[in-house]
Amino acid sequence: VRSVCLVCVCVCVPCGWLAPCPGFVPALCPIRHMAAALPMGTLKYIPSPKAPVATNSDLANLFECPVCFDFVLPPILQCRSGHLVCSNCRPKLTCCPTCRGPLGSIRNLAMEKVAHFVMFPCRYALLGCKVALAHSEKVDHEELCEFRPYSCPCPGASCKWQGSLDDIIPHLMHKHKSITTLQAEDIVLLARDINLPGAVNWVLMQACFGFHFLLVLKKLEKFDGHQQFFAIVQLIGTRKQAKNFIYRLQLIGHCRRLTWEATPLSIHEDISVAVMNSDCLVFDMNIAQLFEDSGNLDINVTISTCHPMPSDQEG
Ligand SMILES: *[C@@H]1O[C@H](CO)[C@@H](O)[C@H](O)[C@H]1NC(C)=O
Ligand SMILES: [Zn+2]
Ligand SMILES: [Zn+2]
Repeated sequence: VRSVCLVCVCVCVPCGWLAPCPGFVPALCPIRHMAAALPMGTLKYIPSPKAPVATNSDLANLFECPVCFDFVLPPILQCRSGHLVCSNCRPKLTCCPTCRGPLGSIRNLAMEKVAHFVMFPCRYALLGCKVALAHSEKVDHEELCEFRPYSCPCPGASCKWQGSLDDIIPHLMHKHKSITTLQAEDIVLLARDINLPGAVNWVLMQACFGFHFLLVLKKLEKFDGHQQFFAIVQLIGTRKQAKNFIYRLQLIGHCRRLTWEATPLSIHEDISVAVMNSDCLVFDMNIAQLFEDSGNLDINVTISTCHPMPSDQEG
């Protein structure tokens, strides 16, 4: 090793980019900002037997949050004595968990700069993920990480299943056989017996554009016997994927139509939270009765893409 990137020697191991190190080409280094900071060949790495060499994990450990053991990532705020706490824990605290002093809001720019040179392990490392990432790429990776556990999205069911994103559809098909799948962009959710007392869920799966969408109509009974309906669509996919779609729910009756359009929830969001916030099609029993037909309610569901599909642009 004659002339190499010092940081590369320390951090290429977790990302697997080890072999090209002796002929280091800054633009290829996974930590791309190094290209600007250290032009090729400016650093001569001469290992000294006495000097302690901090490994990447030594450095990453300096960023550990004392409360949740996740990493404190930029923007990094410190207390007056210099202790760090992560941005998730910070709003829940009234004083510094290390020294009990005031939390303050002092930026630690030096640690933020150091953070650019450290590769942080994925938060699912304990579940088997071996990837380490620049802090700016950590959130995107973790959203898609194959080791990230997902819960069963089936509403109302007390299913305790957890698994990977790819296993959700097979799980729903094998363990929740009562959920029908319809293959089309336009379908109708047939809710039978909407007058059944108590809380009821009607669930359907819609397959189109190469994705699966979960359609849920929920009836909840308020304390005073007032009944409310909530209808919503969830993509079995990530937030990024969900942003490409719009769903439309329509109640269609004689001279009446009730429409709701929105971006589908992603698998990372919770249907019950959206229902609590009324961020879905909400209507009460009086409205349902304007559209029902002998106790059955039809909801037209249309899924469309927000952006023209590549094939549309060509035509
Ligand atoms: C609603 O769905 C029904 C059944 O597929 C269809 O006949 C009707 O045209 C749809 N209505 C609208 C407004 O899309
Ligand atoms: Zn924390
Ligand atoms: Zn991961």
